[in-house]
Amino acid sequence: MHRLALVGRGKMGRLVEQLAPEYGFHVAVRLTAENNAGGAAITREAFSTIDVAIEFSTPASVVMNLKRLAAAHIPTVTGTTGWNDHLPEVREAFLQAGTGLVWSPNFSVGIAVFRKLAGLAAELFRDEDEYGAWAWEIHHDAKKDAPSGTLQHIIEMMRKRGYPRKIDVAANRAGKHPGTHEIGFDSAADTITLRHAARNREGFARGALKSAGWVVGRKGVYTFDDVLFGTARA
Ligand SMILES: NC(=O)c1ccc[n+]([C@@H]2O[C@H](COP(=O)([O-])OP(=O)(O)OC[C@H]3O[C@@H](n4cnc5c(N)ncnc54)[C@H](OP(=O)(O)O)[C@@H]3O)[C@@H](O)[C@H]2O)c1
Repeated sequence: MHRLALVGRGKMGRLVEQLAPEYGFHVAVRLTAENNAGGAAITREAFSTIDVAIEFSTPASVVMNLKRLAAAHIPTVTGTTGWNDHLPEVREAFLQAGTGLVWSPNFSVGIAVFRKLAGLAAELFRDEDEYGAWAWEIHHDAKKDAPSGTLQHIIEMMRKRGYPRKIDVAANRAGKHPGTHEIGFDSAADTITLRHAARNREGFARGALKSAGWVVGRKGVYTFDDVLFGTARA
């Protein structure tokens, strides 16, 4: 069994903990805001017997947590959202440490496939000027970042595949919603809608655990696409 550190033990961390034995992990360390202020509990000594970490914390704490995990040479999976601007410095920390990181704003296999479909649709509509595009998501009212990292990632893919016109973006936060993402193309003649609806959070936890098994023994910075589809290093 690999020894796993859970950094963040909220809704996602607790679900990862529950499913960890199915993936051959023993949860040996559990960190929260209370016992890891400023990332202080992540040291080489405290993590000397840890094989891999799964980090689901907050946008305010994730960057320090990741830098300290890199400095402690711990292969890491992070699903925390809202920190994309800091990716270059985090990437540098893991590359310098010679340790592996898998990051993704969404560890659902369904979303990974959905993002590829959104990219293909964007490419097919690229030269069809009569079609306008939208992107929309809804999540529970406790989610801090809006629009979601996942929606931004989907839009990025649409741009990468050459969609040149405006994409109208909207987000809602209400109730306990586990998360729906939608993109669409509309013309005078018709509408195409592509929608992914998560039923619960289990798929995210399973994707993170799958990635944790994959990253052990790897160096470099990767996304969930690399784990699933074997694409180039991120
Ligand atoms: N990538 C994905 O597939 C995916 C899926 C769902 C959610 N997310 C993202 O994952 C993150 C966590 O989501 P959640 O629903 O689990 O949030 P949550 O229920 O609010 O839990 C956040 C956890 O982070 C802990 N925390 C805060 N500061 C910390 C620190 N310095 N060190 C360690 N832990 C710290 C909190 O500790 P306390 O318990 O002491 O407050 C809490 O346990 C969010 O950014 C969310 O958007 C990603």
